[in-house]
Amino acid sequence: MPDAFSERKLTARYPTDLRAWAALRDHFRDDIRGRTLGDLFARDRGRVERFTASAGALSLDYSKNHLTAKTRKLLVRLAKEAGVPAAIEAMFAGEPINVTEQRSVLHVALRSKIADTIALDVPGVRDVWKVLSAMEVFVDGVQSGQVAGSTGKRLTDIVNIGIGGSDLGPVMVSRALRPYWQDGMRFHSVSNVDGTQLADLTSELDPETTLFVICSKTFTTLETMTNARMAREWVVGRLGADAVTDHFVAASTNHAAMNAFGIHPEYRFGFWDWVGGRYSVWSAVGLSVALVTGMGVFRRLLAGGRVMDQHVRQAPFEENLPVLQALLAVWYNNFHGAESQAILPYDNRLDRFPAYLQQLQMESNGKSVRMDGRPVRCRTGMVIWGEAGNNAQHSFYQLLHQGTRLIPVDFLLPVRSSGATQAQQDLAIANCLAQAEALMDGYLADGLEPYRAHAGNNPSSMLLFEELTPETLGQLIALYEHKVFVEGVIWGIDSFDQWGVELGKRLASALAGAVDGNSPYDGGNASTSALLERARAYRP
Ligand code: F6P
Repeated sequence: MPDAFSERKLTARYPTDLRAWAALRDHFRDDIRGRTLGDLFARDRGRVERFTASAGALSLDYSKNHLTAKTRKLLVRLAKEAGVPAAIEAMFAGEPINVTEQRSVLHVALRSKIADTIALDVPGVRDVWKVLSAMEVFVDGVQSGQVAGSTGKRLTDIVNIGIGGSDLGPVMVSRALRPYWQDGMRFHSVSNVDGTQLADLTSELDPETTLFVICSKTFTTLETMTNARMAREWVVGRLGADAVTDHFVAASTNHAAMNAFGIHPEYRFGFWDWVGGRYSVWSAVGLSVALVTGMGVFRRLLAGGRVMDQHVRQAPFEENLPVLQALLAVWYNNFHGAESQAILPYDNRLDRFPAYLQQLQMESNGKSVRMDGRPVRCRTGMVIWGEAGNNAQHSFYQLLHQGTRLIPVDFLLPVRSSGATQAQQDLAIANCLAQAEALMDGYLADGLEPYRAHAGNNPSSMLLFEELTPETLGQLIALYEHKVFVEGVIWGIDSFDQWGVELGKRLASALAGAVDGNSPYDGGNASTSALLERARAYRP
């Protein structure tokens, strides 16, 4: 029997057939297309207040976007006609909303309190707090030195080995929370298959003080298992085979594979199939973060995520940050024809946040088939890209200001410095505000050479918050997670599978033997064949 959600999904209508969609198309043509942002501000004195919403520690000023109160009303109607309220509740109820894999989607349970009673009947959910406690015991042990390396030295260099969500989450969060690292602890990461990251690290690190955290939901991923085996060889070569149990821990859902690798039973931290890779930093995949920051900080991150979970369920859609962000994305993507969105954080500690969001949004919503198996009839996930602060200004902002494309921008602006002087963060604030203003207002003056003119009218949203703390970071991540989900519900796609990455993986394993010439290439692609030949000729 299909559950209520999949039944609804299978009968769901195309968004383009919804009444609100048609109304938005007319509204775009009649009321929006010919108006500039300047016009919209001139006509509405209360615009900034009308288009500012907040949740937890985050405030979102989305007044510098091409919308009016009527646009928002129609977009909210679209979300309701598309079934977003029921879909949000279905996720929290643990219904298998990942329909192609028949799985619940419960990263929200990872940051809930047991009293929230989120999907407690779904197998594994009641174990969330047990795993957190086990992580806490281990983290405290490592930080106090009670859990030490094989030669008795304190483990101070934590190396996360993983890829995709098992890398981007730990890397992004640990960089963002640099001021919270405990004395003497250092975070490193290894992800790519070519081996250079590990080679560089092992030339600097002392194996006696190094702890590898192997993160892999499946524990079969080529890149991660290759790097993990190479790391094990390094440890065995320097400290002997018995040292493996003291220098490797793992986070995975695959207990048999962790066992086979030689991970000590007490050093295996589990999670569950209802945690998607790109949603997994809240689980044991966050262990390396907890090891450098301490478990208290990790729990504060979870608490931040929970604030946004409560907000997305309770806030009216007109004031609901993830819903508003999703609706703006749909508005630009499907009605204005925008192809990409830039994420521009003004704190260098968030420098991997755009990359993190690339996986979150593009792996989730880069889909062309609906949940019911039919092709979509509208564009789905936009290209997401970005870079931190002034580095981005001195790189690609030229195109934002004077290029030919519509690129909506999300600025992320913490007010307090996260570790340098406030005077420097004040400069970052001034730059961020200046850029948003320049994008909107542009610059045109009599007699100005055309190449100096800025047409302006470029949209942006400003997510402003007091300080980059574990709580605000948790809120930010969860905000974008829910945004992605709401977009997916409107488009009728499954935001929680990732079948599009499988073909390349399969071809790569077929090609692996052909690169070193041990087996013939029989794939039949003439270009691959010629490139293989050239590569073989260059191999050392
Ligand atoms: O190839 C994509 C992917 O499956 C991601 O979704 C995931 O985050 C990554 O690979 C790593 O997978 P695992 O955690 O199983 O090693």
